[in-house]
Amino acid sequence: MVSEQPAPEESVHTISPAHWQQFANEETNAHRICSLSQGWSERLGNNVLLNHQTQTVLESLDAHWQQFSAQELQSSEEFRVFSRHLPRQNAERSIPALLRGSPDLPPETEVVENGVRYGIDFSAGYAVGLFLDQRANRSLLRGWRPKRLLNTFAYTCSFSVCAALAGAETVSVDLSKKSIERGAENFRLNGLSPADHRFVADDVLDIMPKLIQRKERFDSIVLDPPTFSRGSKGRRFNAENDLEKLLLLALDLATPSARILLSTNCTRVRTSDLESMSRFALKSRRLNGQFLRTGALPDFPPDAGARTLWIMLRP
Ligand SMILES: C[S@@+](CC[C@H](N)C(=O)[O-])C[C@H]1O[C@@H](n2cnc3c(N)ncnc32)[C@H](O)[C@@H]1O
Repeated sequence: MVSEQPAPEESVHTISPAHWQQFANEETNAHRICSLSQGWSERLGNNVLLNHQTQTVLESLDAHWQQFSAQELQSSEEFRVFSRHLPRQNAERSIPALLRGSPDLPPETEVVENGVRYGIDFSAGYAVGLFLDQRANRSLLRGWRPKRLLNTFAYTCSFSVCAALAGAETVSVDLSKKSIERGAENFRLNGLSPADHRFVADDVLDIMPKLIQRKERFDSIVLDPPTFSRGSKGRRFNAENDLEKLLLLALDLATPSARILLSTNCTRVRTSDLESMSRFALKSRRLNGQFLRTGALPDFPPDAGARTLWIMLRP
């Protein structure tokens, strides 16, 4: 755990009971609750996950949740509370720990976001199954009613489920067979047959050139890689250096009016960097396009979450 250094002027971003009710009206029970500079709390169905860099932050988030649930929500619902340490090094990541609630309940649960169901597993690893900061992008994709989606770095295939619910044929690619299997389960949870879609447990940088060779084309492509990873044959992926290569491959797979989501958690890459990179890539492929940034989410502070940009190709 890092040394205890309380931020001099802690900024607190919290939702109100009205937001909570609005999420419920939208059939959403997976959202942030409170964000501090060194951690945040999030609701996942009848569970609360307290993400913290230090013990002090964990205690502040827990105190906020107890006060919010008892006094502001006046909820009689039972919530399990988990804590998850946010280490500086990825190698030190561990699974969430149960802080309060019955240890006899299963670690798996389900959440709903805009009426779409997703499986959550508190015992699966550091990440529990759904990245809440992509809610607006998932909703946009579904609303566009795509015909063919290529979802790279698909994790539990949340983007694929949204596209499939809108009628798309989907191809989901992720190195992790376990994540891809959880993705197929998310299809089943939503009454979709995984047999009608493609799930590929392989390296995106091996699969994209093969799709290009086969002249496959997609009207929507999601590029949301991790900051660092080690792919097949030990190949290293580094978002800062490799995003552009990924985008060029995506442009070679795109239909003339395709929409491509470029997204990164890499703190060194700003949305303006994504725009410059996209302008360069479009120019080098002699393509035209416009950019769309999704609006702020009410449960996230302005600069929190992934930096994302939609590239809307124009014929
Ligand atoms: C940030 S998560 C993606 C989140 C996902 N887009 C979502 O919204 O749920 C990164 C994923 O990339 C996968 N991954 C990392 N390197 C990869 C590679 N070279 N090829 C395919 N998948 C990779 C990991 O297994 C992990 O599931």
